[in-house]
Amino acid sequence: MIKQITSFEEYKEAYKQSIQNPEQFWGDIADSFTWKKKWDNVLSWDFEKPEVKWFDGAQLNITENCLDRHLAERGDKTAIIWEPNDPKDDVIKLTYKELHQKVCSFANMLKNNGAKKGDRICIYLPMVPELAIAALACARIGAVHSIVFAGFSASALSSRINDATCNLVITSDGSYRGTKTLDLKSIVDEALESCSTIEKSLVLKYTNGAVTMKPNRDVWIHEELTKVDNNCPAEVMNAEDMLFILYTSGSTGKPKGMVHTCAGYMVYSTFTFKNVFQYEEEDVYWCTADIGWITGHSYIMYGPLANGATTLMFEGVPTYPDGGRFWEVVAKHKVNQFYTAPTAIRALEKQPIEMVEKHDLSSLKVLGSVGEPINAEAWHWYDDHIGKNNAPIVDTWWQTETGGIMISSLGGVTPQQPTFATLPLPGIQPVLMDAEGKEIKSQEAEGRLAIKFPWPSMARTIYGDHKRYKETYFSAYANKYFTGDGALRDANGNYRITGRVDDVIIVSGHNLGTAPIEDVINEHDDVVESAIVGFPHDIKGSALYAYVILHDNVEGNDELRKEINNQISQAIGPIAKLDKVQFVSGLPKTRSGKIMRRILRKVAANEFDNLGDISTLLNPEVVEEIIGGVLV
Ligand code: WT7
Repeated sequence: MIKQITSFEEYKEAYKQSIQNPEQFWGDIADSFTWKKKWDNVLSWDFEKPEVKWFDGAQLNITENCLDRHLAERGDKTAIIWEPNDPKDDVIKLTYKELHQKVCSFANMLKNNGAKKGDRICIYLPMVPELAIAALACARIGAVHSIVFAGFSASALSSRINDATCNLVITSDGSYRGTKTLDLKSIVDEALESCSTIEKSLVLKYTNGAVTMKPNRDVWIHEELTKVDNNCPAEVMNAEDMLFILYTSGSTGKPKGMVHTCAGYMVYSTFTFKNVFQYEEEDVYWCTADIGWITGHSYIMYGPLANGATTLMFEGVPTYPDGGRFWEVVAKHKVNQFYTAPTAIRALEKQPIEMVEKHDLSSLKVLGSVGEPINAEAWHWYDDHIGKNNAPIVDTWWQTETGGIMISSLGGVTPQQPTFATLPLPGIQPVLMDAEGKEIKSQEAEGRLAIKFPWPSMARTIYGDHKRYKETYFSAYANKYFTGDGALRDANGNYRITGRVDDVIIVSGHNLGTAPIEDVINEHDDVVESAIVGFPHDIKGSALYAYVILHDNVEGNDELRKEINNQISQAIGPIAKLDKVQFVSGLPKTRSGKIMRRILRKVAANEFDNLGDISTLLNPEVVEEIIGGVLV
């Protein structure tokens, strides 16, 4: 199986090797996978174009690595434990054998419904086993999955379907989240009104909610499955063929369809899963993310399954039926590795401590954090109350674009340090850049985080827009991938991520670009212009604060705030809702017309001192007004 690093010394040695001879390093790791044909070349790259190829010439299918190769040794081992929204409902456990059969049947059903290699298939499902099965079934037949988180609105869904020109969509009648039942099928129906490329919609019967099935387009999955068998040889894929597209929001414009390819993604997600979480054969691993995000792709599905792990999928929410649910699930399934987001930790920290203490958490060996910087208080609460100071914390920094964890300690193997993601994983070469765009050579430094060498799971392009890929990630600094984050590095080489340096705001661990939300606000008939900034929020990390200019004759009131938020929910989804909306008569602008967001950020954070030089503004008087009307 995959190489495991078990001491700090071994890590240092592996890191050194990975830098001195990356091709040998990754080639050795790749040797432990199942290939239909080995590669001609481990790596070829050019960050100017940019073009990166790993294991070129190799042929494989990732599902053979996630499923078939485990059948002999671990066929009866549990692959997926599914914990339902309602704890009174039945848990589902699928062994590797069962999962393999289900994926093969599903794959045959996709083919029966017209799916072919290379097609893009949109998946819009709740956190049910069929979500993982559907994604793996796409991979089995060489179709490209584009999973859209089932909390996104109809319009967000249709724009993603259209951007990737998907021909199939997979959904369900509905979903459960806490006390709510959502009607997914009608969201899809609405989305499909503006999607001309969809030929079929495959519908999972799940909540038994009422749905309208459109003839010749909508079919029931359970009926279609009766028409196929479970014998489905894996399609032969080239190393650099597309495996999936996953959308992430940018600071401007429409969401970016990040493209991940087969071989490099598989090798890197598998290697990092094993080493960061120090997964052992009998362990039960649980990542609380939704598979609709990259965290779920890499560390619920592909990474764990390629390691033959037992991975837990949770349908529900952390506060249902009560704020002890996460800990109840840990105790119930004797979870060994637990991976969640700081926003969840901060929310659960507010619950009475009995909610934690009444559950036996002694199975926990490694705790993980992802999605945003974890503040010291949350880190210590996690360490004291969940890990009982006995389970190392891995603070894992990475992105949708990176495909896998980039900077993190290895649980219990390399040193941890509160609020620091710590050291780069083998093969990762981070650099800090100064304001002049030069690499900072001194060890202790603060700057913008870039990566100067390719790694196997990096996104290869933005679907249909290579130019934007180059501009967004490879234009800030020559020959380097720019992350969009700021970071500092201490005397020991440990990295602490300080947050985004662009107009992306991370709310509850979700990436939100400001421009797309502003566009939606500006579409409201009463609105002239708007600007959004993030402000510190004790649970969400950051929350959204909007400054909105209205037409002269309109009164800004709560009714209007509600309307604006409804519009955002419709256009993007509830995650992009504004916490605070301040109506203003103008926005501070430079003489070239650029909004001075720095000032707006400070005011929203109630930091009124040191606003900097405002005399160069076109309209300095507006700053006074904004401070006067600030919402606290
Ligand atoms: C952005 C990427 C990768 C999985 C989830 C988010 C922030 C992520 C950390 C961390 C500080 C973090 C960064 C990054 N971020 N993990 N451990 N410490 N910041 O994926 O939606 O693509 O967001 O999340 O700002 O750029 P994503």
